[in-house]
Amino acid sequence: METGYTVEQLRVAAADAVRAPSLHNVQPWRFRLRDGGIEVLLDPRRGLPATDPSGWGARVAGGAALFNLRLALAVAGNPATVRLRPYPAEPTVLARLVPDLPRRPTPTEQNLHAAIHRRLSNRAPFWPDPVPADTRWRLGEAARAEHCWLELLIGVSAVTAFAEIARGAHRVLERDPAYRAERLTWVRAEPAPDGVPALAGGPQAEPQDLLPSRGFGGAPRAPGRDFEPEPLVAVLGSAGNTAVDQVVAGQALQRVLLTATDSGLSVSMLSQPIEVPSAREQLRMSLGRFGTPQMVMRIGFGRPGRPTPRRPVDETLDLPVHLG
Ligand SMILES: Cc1cc2nc3c(=O)[nH]c(=O)nc-3n(C[C@H](O)[C@H](O)[C@H](O)COP(=O)(O)O)c2cc1C
Repeated sequence: METGYTVEQLRVAAADAVRAPSLHNVQPWRFRLRDGGIEVLLDPRRGLPATDPSGWGARVAGGAALFNLRLALAVAGNPATVRLRPYPAEPTVLARLVPDLPRRPTPTEQNLHAAIHRRLSNRAPFWPDPVPADTRWRLGEAARAEHCWLELLIGVSAVTAFAEIARGAHRVLERDPAYRAERLTWVRAEPAPDGVPALAGGPQAEPQDLLPSRGFGGAPRAPGRDFEPEPLVAVLGSAGNTAVDQVVAGQALQRVLLTATDSGLSVSMLSQPIEVPSAREQLRMSLGRFGTPQMVMRIGFGRPGRPTPRRPVDETLDLPVHLG
C-alpha cells in the first residue's frame, strides 16, 4: 500500500483498539489520521490526576490500544510499521503507524485478534484448578515477544510475600481522600459509556482476602465463594521506565491478556503495588529482576465475567473536517 491508511481502515481498527483495558475504564486515547499514518494520542481530558498523576496508567492503556490496532491492521492484510513517541515536541502522541508491505496475517495474529472482543477483567474468585505448564509458557512468550518479561510467582511463600506488598500499597493509596473520591466518580450504578459498572467490579472485599481489591461497588459474595487460596500471580516488567517503556509494556500487557483469553483463562489486574513507588521497588527487589514492574495480574479459570462499556468509536477519532 503506497498511499497510506484510509479513514475507513482507521475506523475499523479503532473499533478494536478501544476494547483495550484502562485504569477505571477511563479510555484515555484518541486516534487520528495524519499524512497517511494512524496516530495514537493521549486524551488530556481523560486523565486521573489523583490516581495516575505521572500518566503511567494512561501510557500503559494507550500501549494496549496500540497493540489492538496493530492486530486489526495485520488481520486486514495491511500491517503497520510502528514508531513510538515519534514527535519529541508532542509527548501526547504515543505512536505513529504507517503501512508496511501487505501480507497475510499469521495464525497467532488471527487468534489474538479474535480474542479482543472476548477479553475482559474478571474480578470474581476463580476455580482452584492450576494453569497448565504449557499455557504458563505461552504467557511468558507473549511478554517476551513484546520486549518485556513476565514473572510467575510460584509457591505459597512467594504469593504471600507479594500479597503483603500489595496490601501495604493498597493501604497507602486508600489513605488519600482524593484517590478514593476519584475512584468513586468512575463507579457506575447506571448504564454509561465509560467507568466500571458495579456488576463488573467484583465482589466486596472481605477481611480474609489474600489480595487487595479496588472497591468498585460490588455486592457481597455468595457464601463459600471465597477467592482461590493459591492464585497464579504474574508480574509484567519492562527494561526501563521511560514513557516509551510504558507504551511498550502496554503492548506486552495486551498481548499477555489476549493470549490468556485465547487459552480460556480469566484475568484481573491489580496495580496498587505499581502505583506506590516504594512498593514497586520492593516488588522488583523481591523478584530479583532488572527493569521495572509495570503490571500485576491474577490469572486462572473463572466463570464468564461481565464486560465493561466503551464510548462510540467516532468519539475517539480526530478526522480531517471534510472527512468527519
Ligand atoms: C494501567 C491499568 C491499571 C489497572 N489497575 C487495576 C486495578 O488495580 N484493579 C482492577 O480491578 N482493575 C485494574 N485495571 C483494569 C481496569 O479497571 C479495566 O481494564 C477497565 O475497567 C475496563 O474493563 P475491561 O478490562 O473488562 O475491559 C487496570 C487496567 C489498566 C490498563
